[in-house]
Amino acid sequence: MTVTKIDQPRRYWDRLFAPSSCLAVITTVDRHGRVNAASYGTCTRVHHEPVHIAFTANIDSDNAANVRETGEFIVNLPRFERRQLEAVRVIGLPFARGVNELDKAGLTALPAKMVAPPRIQEFSRHFECRVQWTREWAGRLMTVGEVLAASADSDCVDAEGYVLWDKVRPAHYCGAPYGGRFVEASATMAVDVPYDGPEVAAFLARERAMFKEHEVAKTAASVHSNDGSRLPE
Ligand SMILES: Cc1cc2nc3c(=O)[nH]c(=O)nc-3n(C[C@H](O)[C@H](O)[C@H](O)COP(=O)(O)O)c2cc1C
Repeated sequence: MTVTKIDQPRRYWDRLFAPSSCLAVITTVDRHGRVNAASYGTCTRVHHEPVHIAFTANIDSDNAANVRETGEFIVNLPRFERRQLEAVRVIGLPFARGVNELDKAGLTALPAKMVAPPRIQEFSRHFECRVQWTREWAGRLMTVGEVLAASADSDCVDAEGYVLWDKVRPAHYCGAPYGGRFVEASATMAVDVPYDGPEVAAFLARERAMFKEHEVAKTAASVHSNDGSRLPE
């Protein structure tokens, strides 16, 4: 069954990229419009408003070449499901430049709203980005992009754009020393600050100022419980 994709308004983009680092497959196109995809364990939301996302790629990779050529990419987030993670592993193989890894992994390209690369239909969250800056260092290309549009499977967010943890089932890559192993990152815990000092009020005031909708971060207890329902504030 195909789940409907819903566009998310700008004010929900920050809460849609959660947790703030995720396993991702990033899609790009080259100057001829040929689609490329690669898997990343190093993808992090690095700025709240406007939302920016960063990742690091080997300097000689096709995605690194494409972000420099065309200045666009899409971050697609898989669920912690075996078939999606198998696709992540296929996409991580060293295919030749010009090969469409989505075809190799049996995934479906879905046209994006704001950029040329495609979204991945089977994955649950998508962030369409324009490159803000790149930096070459230590044989890698660090890329930071500004989010221009975001969308999600209709079953994995609530009416206010918060993720339903048991539905999105975010994944992390355990890292090369662990081989093809992934860890699920959907167990959440609301944690208070057991400290009595003026720094607590200062922190909360700064948090409130950062988020225009004050509902977002009043206290640690304002986050969702593990089953996706909002905890009392
Ligand atoms: C789970 C997983 C995580 C990966 N994370 C990264 C990463 O963070 N950075 C990186 O450069 N390569 C990473 N790789 C390897 C790239 O996906 C791989 O080198 C890919 O072939 C690059 O594709 P491209 O040349 O088409 O861009 C990862 C691979 C897998 C399977």
